[in-house]
Amino acid sequence: MDMAGKLMKAVQYNGYGKDLMAYRFRGYFDHFLDFGDILDIFEHVEVPIPTPKNDEVLLKLEAASLNPFDWKVQKGMLRPFLPPKFPHIPASNVAGEVVEVGPGVTNFKAGDKVVAVVNPMNGGGLAEFAVTKENITVARPSKLSADKVVGLPIVGLTAHQAITQSAGVKLDGSGKKKTNILITAASGGVGHYAVQLAKLGNTHVTATCGARNIELVKNLGADEVLDYKTPDGAALRSPSGIKYDAVIHCATGIPWSTFEPNLSPNGKVVDITPGPSALVTFALKKLIVIPKSENLR
Ligand SMILES: NC(=O)c1ccc[n+]([C@@H]2O[C@H](COP(=O)([O-])OP(=O)(O)OC[C@H]3O[C@@H](n4cnc5c(N)ncnc54)[C@H](OP(=O)(O)O)[C@@H]3O)[C@@H](O)[C@H]2O)c1
Repeated sequence: MDMAGKLMKAVQYNGYGKDLMAYRFRGYFDHFLDFGDILDIFEHVEVPIPTPKNDEVLLKLEAASLNPFDWKVQKGMLRPFLPPKFPHIPASNVAGEVVEVGPGVTNFKAGDKVVAVVNPMNGGGLAEFAVTKENITVARPSKLSADKVVGLPIVGLTAHQAITQSAGVKLDGSGKKKTNILITAASGGVGHYAVQLAKLGNTHVTATCGARNIELVKNLGADEVLDYKTPDGAALRSPSGIKYDAVIHCATGIPWSTFEPNLSPNGKVVDITPGPSALVTFALKKLIVIPKSENLR
């Protein structure tokens, strides 16, 4: 299907704006904020349908999902690098149907149902069509609908990288010794995949989450679960007294001094949201920061 020169509907914004996370507090802040202002950030527009380059596929999108990355970019936390220019169409996790392929594409043809990552730097997911590189596009099983899989790509890749490359867990369970892993924010997007991957690797998993999600995280396979608002949860202390060989740190605002007493002699912390203090600790201690961009390829 030749889409050259045709237009599509998309949602974009033209500048750094108010914190999109404010949506989460909408009920609480209704008295103080004019939410019309926040909604005004977005424009519904018609723009040209992108053309796939040699190694790209053009997708007709059925679903897109937003990550913390998207609101951080919109809020200006990554300025002046991101977004590279305005206007910007956010969202990089997408699911849809292939409608056109670049001349170098060998694995996909029109009609294939896929899940993919749009280049996170350029965005483009909140639109009717988007292009993705062939090597970060995968076929999706026909029984899985677009809305069921679209949350997977970036959180799944981040969890996979943290568990396998950074923590060294072998997913077939062939690791030499049982590894003790702590996963913070285990009820969140990255954390809930990290728990399941860690259990595939036959590790012992301690997890932290809010009280409302303790049963959920246990059902995902965690061996022990701590409410982060309790004293033991805040101190990251294992109920069985074990020390952690690796911490997959998916929460924020926990200082190194809280991790250190809970680590085994060779234990390390994998921080997926490193702030300035984490980067200093990284230089001095056993801290690994991710994600690295090569993981998305
Ligand atoms: N999403 C991605 O693809 C991605 C990739 C790389 C890095 N990151 C970064 O990783 C972090 C987590 O992302 P996410 O997408 O997994 O977040 P998310 O889905 O928004 O989940 C955040 C979770 O944090 C939990 N939480 C809040 N305070 C906590 C604390 N003190 N201790 C333990 N848990 C706490 C909450 O648990 P309850 O609801 O149970 O209270 C919530 O489930 C973000 O900073 C994000 O920027 C995300």
